[in-house]
Amino acid sequence: MSDTNVVVTYLISTVMTSIPNPASAPSSSSIWTIVVAAGSGSRFGGAIPKQFVQIAGRSVLMWSLHHAAAMSDGIVVVLPADIEADDEPPNVVSQTPVIRATGGASRSASVRAGLAQVPDDASVVLVHDAARPVASSELFRRVAHAVSQGADAATPSVAVIDTIKTVDGGHVDRSTLRAVQTPQGFAADVLRMVHAAGEHATDDATLVARAGRRVVDVEGERWNIKLTEPADEAVIAGLVTRSGQTAPMHASPTHRDGSP
Ligand code: CTP
Ligand code: MG
Repeated sequence: MSDTNVVVTYLISTVMTSIPNPASAPSSSSIWTIVVAAGSGSRFGGAIPKQFVQIAGRSVLMWSLHHAAAMSDGIVVVLPADIEADDEPPNVVSQTPVIRATGGASRSASVRAGLAQVPDDASVVLVHDAARPVASSELFRRVAHAVSQGADAATPSVAVIDTIKTVDGGHVDRSTLRAVQTPQGFAADVLRMVHAAGEHATDDATLVARAGRRVVDVEGERWNIKLTEPADEAVIAGLVTRSGQTAPMHASPTHRDGSP
């Protein structure tokens, strides 16, 4: 190689390493993701917790970790105390470091166990259900972006498409409803503050809203379903291999006039 080539090669490699990975946009702030995988999967049933079931060649947990890794500087995966050795996730997924924590009796307790392992200098913390293996990296990016723009919390949600009634036959106007998903994003100090109280909720944004802080809505993904009952497995198997694409099928609204 000539001297000129050596210099050019050096310059190119210097530029390449200094250009931020587009997947790690939107800012230089540190983004950590907590993936909660410590549940027992009682509604799903089966011999092992649902997050360790293999779908299309990978466990449900590993699909979730791969989608989270593209947008995270680091991941904390929260696992059951009695996890089988074969189910242990690796220390690195797609070059993103993965730290383990042991979960608690409720989802909120598991998030708190994960949060305790997030480095102090993380500015944005995303929380994701391991049981949602189809959430795309693009969704993680949207949620993180909303927080980096100043929201205390950001939740992806989709319109409710079924007609909804109460168990005693009452009608509920579905246009007033949204189905909330994960990943949810938080300013790290806000998430730490709401969890310090030790309260419980089915998601973390509920705790933020209860504390009177600002939760913004981000368009979710219609296909981002949670593996909950046995029938969900076949649906997820059909979707999960498409979810690595950056811009898969687009989400709601579904009406031509833009109404939900
Ligand atoms: N989760 C957790 N720790 C708990 C309970 C739930 O980490 N104590 C996690 C689950 O592993 C899952 C996510 O939170 O990834 C969403 O919870 P859910 O779908 O309700 O899972 P399970 O609680 O395991 O299922 P079930 O309620 O049917 O028992
Ligand atoms: Mg549960």
